[in-house]
Amino acid sequence: MTFRAAHLLGIEPLHPTEITALLDLADRYADQNRRGLTHHDALAGLTQINMFFENSTRTQASFELAGKRLGADVMSMAMQASSIKKGETLIDTALTLNAMRPDLLVVRHPQSGAVDLLAAKVQNCAVLNAGDGRHEHPTQALLDALTIRRAKGRLHRLSIAICGDIAHSRVARSNILLLGKMENRIRLIGPPTLMPAGIADFGCEVFEDMREGLAGADVVMMLRLQRERMDGGFIPSEREYYHRYGLDEEKLRFASPDAIVMHPGPMNRGVEIDGTIADDINRSVIQTQVEMGVAVRMAAMELLARNLRAARGAKVAEVMA
Ligand code: NCD
Repeated sequence: MTFRAAHLLGIEPLHPTEITALLDLADRYADQNRRGLTHHDALAGLTQINMFFENSTRTQASFELAGKRLGADVMSMAMQASSIKKGETLIDTALTLNAMRPDLLVVRHPQSGAVDLLAAKVQNCAVLNAGDGRHEHPTQALLDALTIRRAKGRLHRLSIAICGDIAHSRVARSNILLLGKMENRIRLIGPPTLMPAGIADFGCEVFEDMREGLAGADVVMMLRLQRERMDGGFIPSEREYYHRYGLDEEKLRFASPDAIVMHPGPMNRGVEIDGTIADDINRSVIQTQVEMGVAVRMAAMELLARNLRAARGAKVAEVMA
């Protein structure tokens, strides 16, 4: 089975074979990017609009670069400053977009579910979720998966520790879904105040203690403390948090000797991770994650564009019949 979806709104609806198909294509793009082969035409003639209703540096840049490398006409709208502040509803935004006729729409929004809503309202256009509230961030989970697959040679039967602010993290949610579908052992580590309710239903092991949770882990994925999504005292202090949950040499020693260290960025050095570990290229794959991000977004947009073109072709055939 190949990639069938019309939109990329989350990892949840994807079949493992669709994930593998996307990662295989991204893997080829990653190799070509490394060799400097960065001009392709898979999206030639298509218009890509990026709408980021929430701050972003790497994700927005990554989607822009990916679209340009595939030959799309790419435009980024500065949403922070504009419509959302003036109280325009998402429905009005969708109507505006329908009038502009984009082919690919990349959306980041602070509210969970907002990207699904937009996808339901825009016509004739593939929508990619670049992060919605604490819900999903599918391309981040896919780029993490590609990074792991390239570093470890496989994406199944690995012991993967996801540490820190799980409750507020769309990165954690999408990763738990993806890594679970690929049959890995997932261990969540963090203070109970930062664990989402009902987490046991996801089939993960939950730990309060870093040393216990990290024991033998092949992959150590650190998360940023999502202060903007906290409304009160989730942690006693950053110092105390670093002491108990910050990844330092002493705690990392409990993981497998060849464990890789990941972080989606932006990092709070000295809060969730020690700067020396983050910069240690023998263990940290944080820069590789950024690199794989471009390749994964190229693959995602190419696969969606193929499905979009096929659906348009079918519609034309219907009209002609
Ligand atoms: C993540 C996000 O925005 O969800 N960052 C990213 O996409 N690179 C994680 C975070 O903000 O902590």
